[in-house]
Amino acid sequence: MRHFWGSVIRPLLDAMRPGAIVEIGAAHGRHTRLLAEYCREQGGELHVIDPQPGFDVPSLVREGHAVVHVGRSLEVLPRLPSVDIALIDGDHNWYTVYNELKLLQRLARDAGRPTPVIVCHDAGWPWGRRDSYYAPEAIPDEFRHPWARLGIGDGRPAPFVKDKSAALLASATFAGGPRNGVLTACEDFVDEAAEPVSVRVLRRENGLAALVPRSRSELHPGLEPALARAMGGETPPLPAGDQLIPRIIHRVWLGPDPVPSIFERYAESWRRHHPEWELRLWRDETLPALSCRDEYDAAADWDLGRGETIHADVLALETWRIRYDIVRLELLRQFGGVIVDMDVEAIRPLDPLLGGVSAFVGRATRARRIGNQVLGAIPGHPFFEFAVRELRTSVAHARTGGQAAAGGFLTRLLEARPEGVTVLPRDTFYSTLTVEPPRRPDDFPAIFAVHHHLESYRKGPEATIERLERRIHEAQREIEGLEAEQRRLEALNEKADAERAKEEAKRRRVETQLETAVLKIDQLAQANTALRPGRRELERSEAERRRLEALNETAGAGRAKEEARRRRAEAHLETALLKIEQLEQASAALRAARREIERLETNQRRLEALNEKADAERAKEEAKRRRTQKQLEKSALKVEQLEEKSAALRLRGASPAARGECRNP
Ligand SMILES: C[S@@+](CC[C@H](N)C(=O)[O-])C[C@H]1O[C@@H](n2cnc3c(N)ncnc32)[C@H](O)[C@@H]1O
Repeated sequence: MRHFWGSVIRPLLDAMRPGAIVEIGAAHGRHTRLLAEYCREQGGELHVIDPQPGFDVPSLVREGHAVVHVGRSLEVLPRLPSVDIALIDGDHNWYTVYNELKLLQRLARDAGRPTPVIVCHDAGWPWGRRDSYYAPEAIPDEFRHPWARLGIGDGRPAPFVKDKSAALLASATFAGGPRNGVLTACEDFVDEAAEPVSVRVLRRENGLAALVPRSRSELHPGLEPALARAMGGETPPLPAGDQLIPRIIHRVWLGPDPVPSIFERYAESWRRHHPEWELRLWRDETLPALSCRDEYDAAADWDLGRGETIHADVLALETWRIRYDIVRLELLRQFGGVIVDMDVEAIRPLDPLLGGVSAFVGRATRARRIGNQVLGAIPGHPFFEFAVRELRTSVAHARTGGQAAAGGFLTRLLEARPEGVTVLPRDTFYSTLTVEPPRRPDDFPAIFAVHHHLESYRKGPEATIERLERRIHEAQREIEGLEAEQRRLEALNEKADAERAKEEAKRRRVETQLETAVLKIDQLAQANTALRPGRRELERSEAERRRLEALNETAGAGRAKEEARRRRAEAHLETALLKIEQLEQASAALRAARREIERLETNQRRLEALNEKADAERAKEEAKRRRTQKQLEKSALKVEQLEEKSAALRLRGASPAARGECRNP
């Protein structure tokens, strides 16, 4: 992790100013000290977790701002407060890392805080897709892959365990597949996260993955830009077909002789096209322990097995040949990577061929035969495990070197066990073209490497001379090719010359036309000068005309305004006249009404006089009627009195009147 301090970790901390940091896996504390110093300077608290810290814990704690928890991450984490950033570099296996991520997320959730930013070391080769176990027994059975104590480097222990007595790390026997490796753990965590998480992965120094939950980038606006500067854009989700085969190119040169310089150009081609790969040259003294040592040794006793003698030169040749073939298979089995023969030249990077591929071979002929000059696999691939086991019988019984461990042998095995091996088309590595593709790779997109057939297994000056001769032959072919190319270019040149001549003639014609045109322009310019006074006069009168037109236009506008005003006045007048007429009519009607009223009033008065007269008449009549009434009443009273008198008289004299035969008066 400390390799990333200046370029990634410090800028990240500066962008966040975290209050709490956890570092999982401190080892000798070199990175831990940088973190503690940062916390002392900038504030913040550092929690360090390691079951076996390899530094002076009390002195770090005394300096302040750091708490060291001695124990395994999955046991310690649940007791910690939630943190802002976690730096994970402890036990590099899926189970541990996946659960560390989940625990960090849970701590934050329980504290009502956003999930921390998480940086995981060893997300690249070799532990990105392959578990390693500090303590295999601490991993539950169902999550622990079959493992072995294998070195991950060139046969020696990995750099960070070199000074430990345990020497080699326990690592999963196979890379790839589900729940295997640090990067797989990160991806599984991101897939399951409740919020989007940005992922960036750097491949160098065994790989570094930075996971930034959306809520964190919202909280620290400077975070994403700082990460983009430090790590580039977001890494697109790595497909399941990510490269599984370790990025190591192995070359082998056996025997005491130095490597002939003729092979250097090919080594250089691999280096150039694979800058991120490790290029290893194996010599006798650096070879790892061979599981097939007996077969390797037995190769020197190679004979036809029928009591036939074999010429010493041929024996030596076949011995080297078989040993090379054996060593290649063994290296591939142990370390994985890509084995290339010394005389194979790289034309382009192999990476595009390798997505999701765990082992590959290439066809060497149009038939089914495969070659063994370029082979690749993950370490411990079943096919190469099988091949190395099979050497036991093949080396002892083969009738030719080729059948012992080379292409013929591999072709036979592949027919029996094709599972998990990608067979690449012939042109990929074994094109019959050896001169053209290196010079014009763009014209040969299917060719990734070229085998120059320099029989690198052959030793001694004769072989070197022959190789040089071949190389001379190749060079001659190359020269022929170049000559042909030169002829083609010359022809093109001639064509181009002819074209140029045509162009030149055209140019001259155009130049002449141009000169004529310039002359004409001059003449026109002179004529122009001569016309200038007249033009000025013309311009003046033109200006005057424009002025008058403008005046006219202004006057016209005034007239139009007047006309409009007049029309408006006329309209007003008409309206007024109409109103007067209406008023006159109303006035006449009023007058007639008034006359009528007067007439009616006269009538009324006459009627009232008549009424009064009638009333006086009626009063007179009434008085008369009342008088008559009174007289009548008086008469009636008199009559009554007379009748009473008469009745009294009758009673007294029985006169007719007294008997009721009296008549009204
Ligand atoms: C690769 S080293 C760490 C290197 C360190 N980060 C640096 O940059 O210098 C791995 C460390 O993780 C520790 N470790 C192993 N298993 C662990 C676990 N389960 N939890 C925490 N640390 C663990 C090991 O003891 C070892 O010290």
